[in-house]
Amino acid sequence: MTLVAPPPIPRAAGSLPLLGHALRLGRDNLAFIAGLRENYGPLVEITLQPGTRTIVVQDPELIRTMLTDLGPSLDKGRFFEKMGQLMGQSVVTVAGPEHVRKRRQLQPAFGRAEIARYVDLMRGEVDSAVDGWTPGRELDVREAMVKLSLDMLVKTVFSGSISAETFAQLRRDLSVVMNGVGVRIMLPDWFEHLPIPFNRRFDRARDDARATINGAIAALQAAGHGTGDMLSLLMAATDESTGLPLTEDQICSEILTLAVAGTETTASVLSWVLYEVARNPAIESRILAELAEVLGDRPVAFADVTRLPYLDRVIKEALRLHHTGWLVTRRTVTETRLGDWTLPPGTELAYCQHALHRDPAFFPEPLTFDPDRWLHSEQTFPQGAYLPFGAGKHKCIGDRFAVTELITALATVLRRVRLELTPGLTVRPVARATVRPRTLVMTVRARAG
Ligand code: HEM
Repeated sequence: MTLVAPPPIPRAAGSLPLLGHALRLGRDNLAFIAGLRENYGPLVEITLQPGTRTIVVQDPELIRTMLTDLGPSLDKGRFFEKMGQLMGQSVVTVAGPEHVRKRRQLQPAFGRAEIARYVDLMRGEVDSAVDGWTPGRELDVREAMVKLSLDMLVKTVFSGSISAETFAQLRRDLSVVMNGVGVRIMLPDWFEHLPIPFNRRFDRARDDARATINGAIAALQAAGHGTGDMLSLLMAATDESTGLPLTEDQICSEILTLAVAGTETTASVLSWVLYEVARNPAIESRILAELAEVLGDRPVAFADVTRLPYLDRVIKEALRLHHTGWLVTRRTVTETRLGDWTLPPGTELAYCQHALHRDPAFFPEPLTFDPDRWLHSEQTFPQGAYLPFGAGKHKCIGDRFAVTELITALATVLRRVRLELTPGLTVRPVARATVRPRTLVMTVRARAG
């Protein structure tokens, strides 16, 4: 127990009256957050929205405490609250006992056996994406990965439940919803009510997506049996407290949120891996050699996910150097002790994986992409310094699903084509809904032999 009062939590420099740190964040949010880590200690206060205070938690041990020990007693904070307003309450947006209930309902859709069944669907989507790329032509890799990740997810959820035409419409609508949520979460609430095309497009796409999902639910109900896709699993789930199945509205909100939580994230990681592979021919050769040895000529299967240790390290390293998360939020509900500090109820908390994973105190030469650092990594950094999928009760429910998608997509794409980077091109990260490459255009080359 500490007898000396802890030092006061410093306030980050550069806050302006009425605007707080909004201008600094708007100009370059990643640089701003990285600067906090360089210049301040375990906790620092920033102003995201005028009139609010957010404490950025920077110390790995305190981050771990916030996510695990304090996890059940904290609300999810502004970021997730806004997501709930936009898309309905779901496992991602709620906290406490309601979260536990929703998470249990969703869990069966993410079981090992289910993911094993999804792999063929995922690989089918990767193959048809690559079929559409023309050797010798430029490809907007970031855009292609967003499309691919959305297709893999939508196919998994609806493989047996909707026609190809409805699938195409749904993925167009979900794509608008995903991009819209990323932008709206950052903006003040009044922005949503402006009658501008951006808002109208978002509202229409969200309502159309809900209508499509409702239609698929009604069709499955009329058929009287599930089809084995994720939608069927969600329809079979029951609310633990009432014994009743999830309502159509609940299922819609869960699926819309999964599309947001599970698409941009996977797409950004895929883009970063393809970028690093293109920049590092030695890494590319080692991945290809491992794939040749383990797979030979056959397509990648679920059992291979644990049999490709080098590719696994490449993905781990991409999740370190290029983590997609730049602000994950929480909020205290009661007076809360965090380390030596006592925080009043209503305090917004946040942490940034992107900055955390680049801290030289934990990862030597942090800006070097070195998959082999994971060969002997276990003892070198404290728990809480590497959190690719978060920790505690809200740890990513899709972690195994995501790794399976990443391995399936990379093992398929890299063996079929080589993606060539324009020499001298520097690709900069930008933090929107996720931290992603600002633009990533590469030339498609057919893989010889
Ligand atoms: C590489 C890709 C992914 C990364 C890096 C990632 C990362 C994360 C992180 C850090 C969290 C915790 C957020 C928090 O602490 O509040 C989270 C939560 C979540 N993720 Fe993922 N995720 C990925 C892919 C996916 C996929 C593919 C899905 C679903 C298909 C998914 C669904 C979810 C859901 C539902 C939650 C909320 C869990 C809860 O609060 O109980 N994620 N993800």
